[in-house]
Amino acid sequence: MAASPKEIPVPNIEELFRPTHDERARQGMVSMIRKHAIIDMRRALKADYDERIEPKLEREGRKPEDWAAIEKSLEREPSYRFYSTIRYNAQEMCYLSVQPAVERALPAMIDLAKDLAARNPTGGSLRLNPNLEIPRYITALDVHLAPGWVHAEYTADDVAQGAVVAFGGKVFSGQHPYRKKAGAVGESISYWLKRQYPNFKPKRILDLGTTMGKNLLPYCTAYPHAEAYGIDVGAPVLRYGHAIAEHEGIPVHFSQQNAEATDFPDGHFDLIVSSFFFHEVSVKATKKILKECNRLLAPGGVMVHMELPDEATVSPYENFFWNWDTLNNNEPWYTSYRAQDPVQLCEEAGFGRDRSFKLHVPDSLTFGEERYEKFMRGELESPAHGSGGWFVFGATKQ
Ligand SMILES: C[S@@+](CC[C@H](N)C(=O)[O-])C[C@H]1O[C@@H](n2cnc3c(N)ncnc32)[C@H](O)[C@@H]1O
Repeated sequence: MAASPKEIPVPNIEELFRPTHDERARQGMVSMIRKHAIIDMRRALKADYDERIEPKLEREGRKPEDWAAIEKSLEREPSYRFYSTIRYNAQEMCYLSVQPAVERALPAMIDLAKDLAARNPTGGSLRLNPNLEIPRYITALDVHLAPGWVHAEYTADDVAQGAVVAFGGKVFSGQHPYRKKAGAVGESISYWLKRQYPNFKPKRILDLGTTMGKNLLPYCTAYPHAEAYGIDVGAPVLRYGHAIAEHEGIPVHFSQQNAEATDFPDGHFDLIVSSFFFHEVSVKATKKILKECNRLLAPGGVMVHMELPDEATVSPYENFFWNWDTLNNNEPWYTSYRAQDPVQLCEEAGFGRDRSFKLHVPDSLTFGEERYEKFMRGELESPAHGSGGWFVFGATKQ
């Protein structure tokens, strides 16, 4: 039952983030530097590789055949080193550029989040487990070069990492000054699900590694009668996400749990989703989590995860591009995760091979309805991941 607007306090927790003029200017500059690295410098590097480096190595009989050989061939090239340096530093600056404004807003943010957690005006909930052992693949390093990532707590009822990751993420993805609609992945996948399975009406949805639930909320809009659950190991991001969902009037049940072994009963969910999740956990944990999905998914249910395309799906050069984060972005599992075949992983977890899938789906916000219909009829391919499409894999359960 959604709450009446007068029960929900104003402002929204996100509106408490009020950077000064100079801080905004800095965030805008960082966004632009990162965009320059990831678009222009990436393009220039590819041109240098295609036009100079690869032909030279080919003439010498040493043409790189796989992504690791491409990486090796570029290691000492100025174009690659310059691109990497700018990209690495821009990444670090994304989070640093929002920290001062988060620090100032923190007491008010904490109060607001606590109030909403006590009242749950929409009927959602927040269940934290201070005794949860947070996996070492999260705590051993600052994932994504974000100090404290999603789990670090510096004060009671802390939400700081929720705000830092949320606003740092906006600077990262060029959404400064925070205009673009959040949750493009959830929008796009739920849009595809509704066309792919028109009679599918999930009663309960689970989002793994939900962080702030940004990509879970669009599923709640697509399936308004379903109960929504989001789990994550990080308490600050869950507190922050709960405050956002309650303010938006969307009841979500957030809980602090390890997706490798949850406390939900067998067959509890009809739809299990995730986005940008598996590349962040070890391959051993990935296998456990997919088995847990199989336990949690009800017969007739659907599991769909948005992730990076696996190694076999893209060219050696693109593999080199995607695997950059392993060495340079504190994401040690990127390469080993991408080396797996997602369909094989689903099969190993107990899903039927013939019921498992991997594909690209278009970004529904940018693709256009007419082209989407053609895509659904098989007359048009989806753009690739990162170029207007999203890579997904998953399975249906008998
Ligand atoms: C890159 S973020 C995902 C972003 C989010 N899904 C979105 O679309 O905005 C990965 C998240 O997975 C969470 N995570 C990693 N390992 C986990 C585990 N074993 N169980 C639950 N959450 C986990 C991290 O805490 C982090 O919040």
